[in-house]
Amino acid sequence: MAAAGDRLVKGVVLAGGRGTRLRPITFAMAKQLVPIANRPIIAYGIEDLVTAGIGDLAVVVSPETGPDVRRVLGTGSGFGARITYVEQEAPLGLAHALSVALPIVGDDDVLMYLGDNLLKGGVTDVVADFETHRPDAQILLQKVADPSAFGVAELDASGRVVKLEEKPARPASDLVLVGVYLFSAGIEDALDELEPSARGEYEITDAIQWLIDHGRSVRSTKVSGWWKDTGTKEDLLHANELVLSDLVPTIGSELHGCAVSGPVAIGRRCTVVDSELVGPLVVGDDTTIVGSTLRAGTAVGDRCRVESASIERSILMDGSAVSGWSLRDSIVGVDAFVVGPAPDEPISLSLGERSEIGRR
Ligand code: DAU
Repeated sequence: MAAAGDRLVKGVVLAGGRGTRLRPITFAMAKQLVPIANRPIIAYGIEDLVTAGIGDLAVVVSPETGPDVRRVLGTGSGFGARITYVEQEAPLGLAHALSVALPIVGDDDVLMYLGDNLLKGGVTDVVADFETHRPDAQILLQKVADPSAFGVAELDASGRVVKLEEKPARPASDLVLVGVYLFSAGIEDALDELEPSARGEYEITDAIQWLIDHGRSVRSTKVSGWWKDTGTKEDLLHANELVLSDLVPTIGSELHGCAVSGPVAIGRRCTVVDSELVGPLVVGDDTTIVGSTLRAGTAVGDRCRVESASIERSILMDGSAVSGWSLRDSIVGVDAFVVGPAPDEPISLSLGERSEIGRR
């Protein structure tokens, strides 16, 4: 891992916003802290930045969830980074979030990373490409099936970016903006001129369009490997599955009467008895699994209890419990309980923090 501050690129990681699309999970939790394979989503992005030699980071937080983000990330030293927190008083858009962080960045180049994005290939290559070509802005693009949920890029025949549009009803292409952007100091000119969009946000897409319209250089490269914007429950479950597909198996506790197949990681001080474990799946520390089946694509956090249950392609957060139920494609929040009489068929649910189903 590279040491903090190796490069003159500073990182701005966005961890504000409201997370309305992920409710009820995000009623009490920042969406960037939702665990993917038992680690907060934002941890993957920060690790990518540090690996690319970017250790000086400004993390933009909201007044509501900022304290939780600070508690989880701390000073950044656990990642080999130095984090300065900046509060964005309201979620006024990605360009607004960048502008509140700019006083910390000063005249240095900046890599803005959306804290709910996951990139398999990291950012090392795009940072190197940016440093070689030194454009005013560099964006990452990826082909997707439904571009209308993203910022969409239109390229000319020579591959130059000519137009960017945020969540268009009729997308001009299937190439969308990934949540990683590199800027040199000229971005400030664009931010100064920006007006709110029709949805009332200061859009980073519009700021980059301003650069294009004013003859500044905007370079694009395509993502290698997978990219995931974890904006919906299905995105989270898919991201969990993708990260688990690279799982390194480790069994940190004794298993009794269990059948294990596929890559499985079990934490320390767990009690795992009379169960079937079909990886890839991960279980945290101090968790009890008795008489249950855990299937592929499942992450069970720390201090959980899974009893006489079947769990498939699901996320069970720290301190949660499932007893007697068959869950698939489900997210169970921190300290939430799914107990009591169960439906006959496996079901898919989302349960927010400290919620309960079936307990008297
Ligand atoms: O994920 C890629 C997409 O991200 C791009 O294709 C779009 O062009 C871009 O606008 C953005 O769209 P989203 O709708 O996914 O953005 P979202 O509102 O989810 O915010 C992205 C991250 O930034 C998220 O971690 C919350 C944070 N955020 C968001 C806003 C609006 C802030 O920190 N402050 C804000 O004001």
